[in-house]
Amino acid sequence: MSSIYSSSSTAALQKNNEFQKICLDAIPIIKEAGKFIRDESTRWSIKDIEMKGRNDIVTYVDKTSQQMLVDNLSKLIPDCGFITEEDVTKDKEKEYTWIIDPLDGTTNFVYGIPLYAVSVALAHKGKTVAGIVYEINNDECFYAWLNGGSYLNGKPILISQTAEIGDAILATGIPTSNFSMKRQYFDCLTDLVEVTRGIRRLGSAAVDLCYVASGRFDLYFEVGLSPWDVAAGALIVEEAGGVVNSFDGEGNFLNGREILCGNRMLFDSFREIIKRYFE
Ligand code: IPD
Ligand code: CA
Ligand code: CA
Repeated sequence: MSSIYSSSSTAALQKNNEFQKICLDAIPIIKEAGKFIRDESTRWSIKDIEMKGRNDIVTYVDKTSQQMLVDNLSKLIPDCGFITEEDVTKDKEKEYTWIIDPLDGTTNFVYGIPLYAVSVALAHKGKTVAGIVYEINNDECFYAWLNGGSYLNGKPILISQTAEIGDAILATGIPTSNFSMKRQYFDCLTDLVEVTRGIRRLGSAAVDLCYVASGRFDLYFEVGLSPWDVAAGALIVEEAGGVVNSFDGEGNFLNGREILCGNRMLFDSFREIIKRYFE
């Protein structure tokens, strides 16, 4: 694949229609990585499992998916940087930086639970301008670009219109390795069990965010995440009309390891509940 984004067109890349073009051009690359993951789901074996840390699994499938993404996305934008979950030899941050989780939901993948995704965002000067999340087994590709709206397999998606927290379905991720905030987390969850309609834990933060964006979930919060878990999904929520923030309301959900989101009608009261436990 030859590059169509020459350095002379760098200024033009800042226009939203250029972000749209990059986003749409990246989709087949992300789907190709997704197809590789799907094919390998019946081929990998127990000997392929490595532990990166406590309850933190990786296999060659994560690593190869990432290498495919880095190789192919490098051809879309020359001199781009990469922030990736698995080790990579490329430069980290540049004017344009891809933020990649090559397989979000590795534990699901390894246990044969068919819900996992590829998550890729593009940041321009530190701001996310495009995001793609491909949920492999349902063949659902969620994507958004800055000021362009959010889409699922080509159709626009919108955040839920639920107005009462008592009618809201809440998604979350339960800590599996860093338990430093377990007391606050479970106390908060105990409160939320009583005030919402119910709680779900899918095992893929990227998919959680896309389900909020598409109105399937009303609310989501999690602690202990990394930029590659949330960068793409957060833009997809915002472009679908939702609100994303950190618990303190300062907006640092990308690097701050805490995130909550929902529609505008529910967001403030939801954050008030969370704040009570995490201040
Ligand atoms: C994990 C998933 C999970 C979340 C974890 C993440 P990984 O990502 O997004 O839903 O609860 O904290 O680390 O490790 O499967 O890429
Ligand atoms: Ca992840
Ligand atoms: Ca991952």
